Amino acid sequence: MNRIEGRVKVTGLATYAAEYPVEGVTYAYPVQSLVAKGRIARVDDREALAMPGVLAVLSSERPPELAPEAEGELALFQSREVAYRGQIVAAVVADTYENARAAAAAVRVEYQPQAHDVHLSAEHPGLYRPKTVNPGFPSDTGHGDVEAGLAAAATTIEVTYTTPVLHNNPMEPHASLAYWDDLGRLMVYDTSQGASSGRDIIARTFGLPPDAVRVVARHVGGGFGCKGTTRPQAVLAAMAARETGRPVKIALTRHQMYDVTGYRTPTIQRLRLGADADGRLTALEHVAYEQSSTVEEFAEQTAVPARVMYGTPALHTAHRLVRLDVATPSWMRAPGECPGMYALESAMDELAYAAGLDPIELRVLNDPETEPDSGLPFSSRDLVGCLREGARRFDWERRDPEPGVRRDGEWLIGTGVAACTYPARRMPSKAVVAAQNGEFLVQIAAADIGTGARTVLTKIAAEALGVDPARVHVEIGDSDLPDAFLAGGSMGTASWGSAVFRACEDFQRDGKEGHADTAEEIARDAEMARHAFGAQFAEARVNAVTGEVRVSRLLGVFAAGHIMDATLARSQFIGGMTMGLGMALMEETYTDEEFGGFLRRDLAQYHIPANADVPGIEAVWLEEEDEGLNPMGSKGIGEIGIVGTAAAIGNAVFHATGHRVRDLPITPAKILMPRF
Ligand code: MOS
Repeated sequence: MNRIEGRVKVTGLATYAAEYPVEGVTYAYPVQSLVAKGRIARVDDREALAMPGVLAVLSSERPPELAPEAEGELALFQSREVAYRGQIVAAVVADTYENARAAAAAVRVEYQPQAHDVHLSAEHPGLYRPKTVNPGFPSDTGHGDVEAGLAAAATTIEVTYTTPVLHNNPMEPHASLAYWDDLGRLMVYDTSQGASSGRDIIARTFGLPPDAVRVVARHVGGGFGCKGTTRPQAVLAAMAARETGRPVKIALTRHQMYDVTGYRTPTIQRLRLGADADGRLTALEHVAYEQSSTVEEFAEQTAVPARVMYGTPALHTAHRLVRLDVATPSWMRAPGECPGMYALESAMDELAYAAGLDPIELRVLNDPETEPDSGLPFSSRDLVGCLREGARRFDWERRDPEPGVRRDGEWLIGTGVAACTYPARRMPSKAVVAAQNGEFLVQIAAADIGTGARTVLTKIAAEALGVDPARVHVEIGDSDLPDAFLAGGSMGTASWGSAVFRACEDFQRDGKEGHADTAEEIARDAEMARHAFGAQFAEARVNAVTGEVRVSRLLGVFAAGHIMDATLARSQFIGGMTMGLGMALMEETYTDEEFGGFLRRDLAQYHIPANADVPGIEAVWLEEEDEGLNPMGSKGIGEIGIVGTAAAIGNAVFHATGHRVRDLPITPAKILMPRF
């Protein structure tokens, strides 16, 4: 199906958070900390308050009241301590955006600065083991004896990979428009991946009952995780609206987004692998070092995919975290799986070369019967099928494994492969279906962040009701609709689709109205290892003179349950793969070691792939019949596309050049380095 909202989007009629016409709207503009650590001695707002159009200045001088439950980055102005450079320390509300911005520049914040520490290292004395890693996994797991496994191995490798700070860059910036209505109810138009969860977070932050808040997010211009949890601008808009009695709009600039909407933690990842003479793993160890802020703990689950991938008698995974004077890391597409699989799948390639084995055969040989860490059966697992199908399409049989020998003029050519995985979960949601003059109205507080959620839910409802999709209308993006899980963790379609499907079943009973709440059904789900799998193949051309890397071909083969719509699915897969290409070759936010905060805070310097960077990109899939998932038999597809891509490209660069770059992104300087 084509996207239902395609026409309103391309004609500019789709309304985003900052665009709702609200009478008497005013504008807030944040003031950000200039120091990386310290105490605010004084906020002098006299000059700002005297400027044209200024209605209020908010700061910790007179902290606007929030509930004691207000947490972390959302507890605006509640403390005088500065946790990182770029933190919001004050805000101006004025009649126009320009007046607010001008007055924000006139707010004088006096700091008592302290020495800061923004440097992640695997030797940092502050490293500790978090109790759990996101979204609740144990930090460390293991079985067997890794040292004995390595000692008994015919081939071992011990390698360290590093990945930089990465930032989501949705086209629509973070924006919120808030007002308190005559009955004291808080209305927030927010750019959000989840209206129900956004409402709950905002209500908790202000100490309100959930039904005293309404969050509307009908269209969202990309999210990828950075709109998965409520960001400070929504709290700021609501707070400013309460202080001024006027509707307040805030739209962050791209620079401001880099500071306050989260980022992917940098990682240092140490892997030790051993294999016997046949290539069977004897030991696998994956230890990830990551950062969080002093504001709150965010522990990314980087080593978790190693618990799922390969069978081995000895397995050890661990996470170590250090709290630095930085902003709190947050969600970014396939958090954990994406950087973790970059390291694991690069290491598997290194092991294959060290053992003289084909990298596909090494993976096939170590494909486990049950989930290695838990021993649970897989609901379905077709990694081997994906590897085989990709090999066929990529002509892998004719590949000469010798690195650094294929040349086309200045260009060295190589191919690489990597596996990928992402959990297939679903979460409780509610839906309502009603008949209206021969048409069908489906309501659920789902979010469409550009994925085509509205469209696929229409399709699910039409199929369940046995009617033409043109007669089905799906209403989403509003917390006043039945509660739904957010668009995150590749759980949207599985969670909402289950509720819509059950509501349609309920509707069939009387033909008037159908209701569903999937909480009980999901609580009854059998314990099982549910994951999507895939194989990524890349062809890289590396310029021997300039070090430039061009990815001439990317192929992803996925086994992700039943694919519900080919057009929408392909778009998700190649979108993820394109982000993976950016991670491999371009994306990197520098931390400013001297002053704190980030350098490279816009799209002029933080490069993401453009069309010309992805000349050949294909996504295909193997249909799976999996009864252990949900009524649609689907696995999530939003995030698996980015997993493994960077490793496949890195492995292709090695095959092209004979040079292993273990630090992302793979820039020309790192390619040329060994020559000097
Ligand atoms: Mo995705 S990082 O779970 O929005």
